[in-house]
Amino acid sequence: MELLFIQSQEHSQLPQAELKAVSESEGIKGNIKRITNGLILLENIDKKNIDNYYKTFVKRLAYTHEIHEIIKIFNLKDLEENILKINWKKIINKTFAVRAKRFETNIDTPYIERKVGSLILKTINNKDNIKVKLNKPNTIIRIVIYKNKVYLAIEKYKLNKKHFQEIKPHKRPFFHPGSMSPKLARCMVNLSRVKENDLLLDPFCGTGGILIEAGFIGCKVIGSDINWKMKNGTKINLDYYKISDYKIFNVDIRELKMYEKVDSVVTDPPYGISTSTGDINRDKIFEEFLSNIYNNMKDDAYLCMASPHYIDLHTIIKKIGFKILEQYPIKMHRSLTRIITVIKKDI
Ligand SMILES: C[S@@+](CC[C@H](N)C(=O)[O-])C[C@H]1O[C@@H](n2cnc3c(N)ncnc32)[C@H](O)[C@@H]1O
Repeated sequence: MELLFIQSQEHSQLPQAELKAVSESEGIKGNIKRITNGLILLENIDKKNIDNYYKTFVKRLAYTHEIHEIIKIFNLKDLEENILKINWKKIINKTFAVRAKRFETNIDTPYIERKVGSLILKTINNKDNIKVKLNKPNTIIRIVIYKNKVYLAIEKYKLNKKHFQEIKPHKRPFFHPGSMSPKLARCMVNLSRVKENDLLLDPFCGTGGILIEAGFIGCKVIGSDINWKMKNGTKINLDYYKISDYKIFNVDIRELKMYEKVDSVVTDPPYGISTSTGDINRDKIFEEFLSNIYNNMKDDAYLCMASPHYIDLHTIIKKIGFKILEQYPIKMHRSLTRIITVIKKDI
């Protein structure tokens, strides 16, 4: 079977990368095919486990808005013929609505919705008792049109984005400037390929934004920070969101030594003016961090970090014995691009 993902268009690569990472870490096999920015097809999915897969995607993905099950893909010129051929009685549960969305075409979507709705009704007898219901229908038929291609699907899930609104840094009980958006934090956690019950470390935990997101997907989390106010603040925030499996330490990255090696490291080291680096030179902190974290990670652990574009991570990473797997630039403003990098030990 095939699934259609409607994703955020705020970044051209991260939503797809996040989907790939979650599929990999959760053992969901399928081909990811990009249709265009914000539209992804996941092909050859095992139907047997589909309900678990939906649950996983809905729980974890930050940059996906909707997930649909494909009924058929065809050319727009063959719309009528294809709609009339489908056995809608098998698909529709008493009431339905058609919702259309377009990508890179000017097609009149309300017209398409009306047209497809009436074509569907043509295939149905009165005794089938199937009706159009625009408000809260049992079945939503989703038509996505990209250029001249039609992706006809049944709507399965709309992902609830309330979590990411309600958990914004200024709404947490402990606030300090410099915490990244919860969506990006969740995406970075996902890029680190963690699963429920894995141990995730953020050694520059600040107010705990990354740890909160990892806690929400069921990871055991460890945070540390050179600043004791941040350590205490992270504790306040984790308690507030009822994340209980955590340990927080007040440690300089140069002295961090874990009793247990971690499954993943996700972090946003200090580089802006609003965060202090202790007495370490700003350029040196990345080298100090990466060389010290190496021995605290399991051999197959992933590390996902943010850094400013002007830090030459390639040289540092190679020197320490890591390898770069993925990199995604995020333009912050004219003079700053943030780079999200995923690395592993090069062994
Ligand atoms: C960009 S902030 C992290 C923000 C965090 N992701 C959040 O959600 O609030 C970087 C943090 O690194 C801490 N820090 C700076 N130098 C450090 C060092 N040498 N060792 C450990 N932590 C350090 C700062 O106190 C600061 O809280």
